[in-house]
Amino acid sequence: MTNFDFALLTLLCLLLPLENSTTATKMMASLVKPGIFRHLMCRNNMYPRSGVLRFPVSDDHVFWSAPYADYCPPVYTAPHIGGQVWADPPLPSEAFYPQWNQLDGQVNRESFHGAYEVKDGLPLNPIGRTGLSGRGSLGRWGPNHAADPIVTRWKRDAEGAIVANSTTGKNIIQMVAIQRSDNKLWAIPGGMVDPGENVSVTLKREFTEEALNFTDKANMVEKFFREGGVHVYSGYVDDFRNTDNAWMETTALNFHDEDGKQVGQLELMAGDDATNVRWTDVDSQLKLHANHADIVREVVILRNAHW
Ligand SMILES: *[C@@H]1O[C@H](CO)[C@@H](O)[C@H](O)[C@H]1NC(C)=O
Ligand SMILES: *[C@@H]1O[C@H](CO)[C@@H](O)[C@H](O)[C@H]1NC(C)=O
Ligand SMILES: *[C@@H]1O[C@H](CO)[C@@H](O)[C@H](O)[C@H]1NC(C)=O
Repeated sequence: MTNFDFALLTLLCLLLPLENSTTATKMMASLVKPGIFRHLMCRNNMYPRSGVLRFPVSDDHVFWSAPYADYCPPVYTAPHIGGQVWADPPLPSEAFYPQWNQLDGQVNRESFHGAYEVKDGLPLNPIGRTGLSGRGSLGRWGPNHAADPIVTRWKRDAEGAIVANSTTGKNIIQMVAIQRSDNKLWAIPGGMVDPGENVSVTLKREFTEEALNFTDKANMVEKFFREGGVHVYSGYVDDFRNTDNAWMETTALNFHDEDGKQVGQLELMAGDDATNVRWTDVDSQLKLHANHADIVREVVILRNAHW
């Protein structure tokens, strides 16, 4: 992309939410907030691919403000992240002094939920206890920033007419979902924001890497992404890999193909990280990885689609 494209995309991302999704953004923002939202996926289970059992955390013990004298979470950092370029060095360390709550060189250590606490040299999960300290399998201490493109089109019949649900009378929206290889759940085809990378670049890169095997479609996909995404969410993700000291946050944008003539036409093939990819009907029964369904719900409201 050229600098001009960047500027245009950034401008669109900044302007569109104000016009279109104020209500939606407010709604999600009011749900996922420290002191209000209790994560569920990262509590009371076995840490993925580890054999490490999380220390029990009841609903009443999630918030750090609630006393929990017996709290004694195991420390776990997955061995495979040691020495990876995308991962931080271990802590505490004599040689590694992360700049918490700010842009640390190229690495964004700021949370969308304001300043997080740092206790005994380690950042604290802004939502609360997870029953595990250390980094688990996440690369960064503190926030791990991802970007999630929610690519949608209207469901159409063989004649190309939009299909509505007969009960609600509303049109059915379809999204591109990938099946994750780690937990087999369907998810938004997102990924991690590389240090110094613009979220707009991550969104397109992850979508093409994860959901598309495009050969001659590159220009079309490029154009589709450039023409505008609507911001639907920025904040914490209730991810099963979160720990007391490392957690996922994401920026989600909706890229909607209204007439189905752009990416809506694409046949989909799985990329490296995914085992499967497809256009999925969106409705209230949709089960997705982490709290992705809550994020997709914002798109449903924005587009006035069937749920
Ligand atoms: C239409 O939506 C309702 C819920 O609002 C659902 O129970 C029903 O199965 C849907 N109909 C079809 C044909 O999918
Ligand atoms: C990302 O976008 C901002 C402005 O929108 C720009 O200042 C910055 O240089 C961009 N970063 C990269 C890595 O291109
Ligand atoms: C991608 O598409 C090309 C051309 O259609 C095909 O040869 C190749 O096997 C595909 N790769 C994957 C990973 O599906």
